[in-house]
Amino acid sequence: MDWQSDINKTEVTFAPVLERWYEVHKRDLPWRHTRDPYRIWLSEIILQQTRVAQGKPYYERFVKAYPTIADMARADERELLRLWQGLGYYSRARNLHQTARYVTLQLEGKFPSTYHELLKMKGIGAYTAAAVASFAFGERVPVVDGNVYRVLARVFGITDEITTTTAKKTFAALASRLIQSATDPATYNQAIMEFGAIHCTPVAPDCLLCPLQQVCVAYQTGRQHLLPVKAKKAPVRERFFSYLVFRHQGKFAMRERTTRDIWQNLYDFYLLETSELVSQRILGDNQESFWPQLSLPEPILDAVMKEILVTPPVEAMQLLSHQRIRAQFYLIELPDDAISLLPNDLHWFSEEAISQLPKPVLVTNYLKDLFG
Ligand code: ADE
Ligand code: SF4
Repeated sequence: MDWQSDINKTEVTFAPVLERWYEVHKRDLPWRHTRDPYRIWLSEIILQQTRVAQGKPYYERFVKAYPTIADMARADERELLRLWQGLGYYSRARNLHQTARYVTLQLEGKFPSTYHELLKMKGIGAYTAAAVASFAFGERVPVVDGNVYRVLARVFGITDEITTTTAKKTFAALASRLIQSATDPATYNQAIMEFGAIHCTPVAPDCLLCPLQQVCVAYQTGRQHLLPVKAKKAPVRERFFSYLVFRHQGKFAMRERTTRDIWQNLYDFYLLETSELVSQRILGDNQESFWPQLSLPEPILDAVMKEILVTPPVEAMQLLSHQRIRAQFYLIELPDDAISLLPNDLHWFSEEAISQLPKPVLVTNYLKDLFG
């Protein structure tokens, strides 16, 4: 048999082999017990942000707070963002809310039921549309995510760099052919993702106990660890935040982040961003000339200087997908006469009120330590 007919044969047996593997090895996960498109959609959006183990409690909290899409449509956005807190990429949570509202108000609560209709929803891309269309409605449309790329690249020996347009077309075309042989498209889609997640894993694929071993090009040629071929990662941008945490009579001055930047609609403190870490090294003896670049009125600046010169900041770091945030928090007790001079995007919140606000994880952790 020549190599082409070998590949064709692999293409036909691939889906049934994975479906059988899945029936034996699948994990019992809450979103696998439902065909409710709302819950499936919700789970997929959460799982784009985090791993299954971390995603499960989020999913359960969301389903408890909003059992139906109409409940989510009615939700207060702040509350929803707070449930999302820690998952990052908050535009996903806002899209979730907007789509819930759209489906409830414009589509009379009827979730779109085909791949093409799903694609029109805000925050639903090709992957999510395929997942919902197949899991909830049984449509024969393949999911293609990182797990799928890895499995296909290895089994079929695809060496194209996965972010290129040609590679995407190659993978999409192959995935479409493969799902044609599936007994059940929903099971097959779950199966290939599960196989990538727990068997054909990035670093330690279990080739010795693999049902695809005989047909897997990567295994047969000893190239599991070279596939899929990935481009170098974009460099991580370093950012340095100095937070002035103003406190007065037990309340804290916080503001909603409104600019097009990370953490939009989350609450943090008065912020000075610098191009370097504000350290003793860069400040040297120049603290007196450095801090006045804060455009703050005299009585506030006085309080800041008094504190900053004597107490070292609390430091924290948060890694986002393309940014590393290094933050320093300075707690500043403000005198009465400074209160009315505060920049007007800052508002006073009690500890209790703060607990209800959506906040970046870094801020939540800082406050947790502060409140003890
Ligand atoms: N990752 C993305 N979707 C998933 C699903 N439905 N089950 C398990 N892991 C997943
Ligand atoms: Fe993945 Fe190894 Fe199985 Fe190939 S043989 S599909 S590389 S686990």
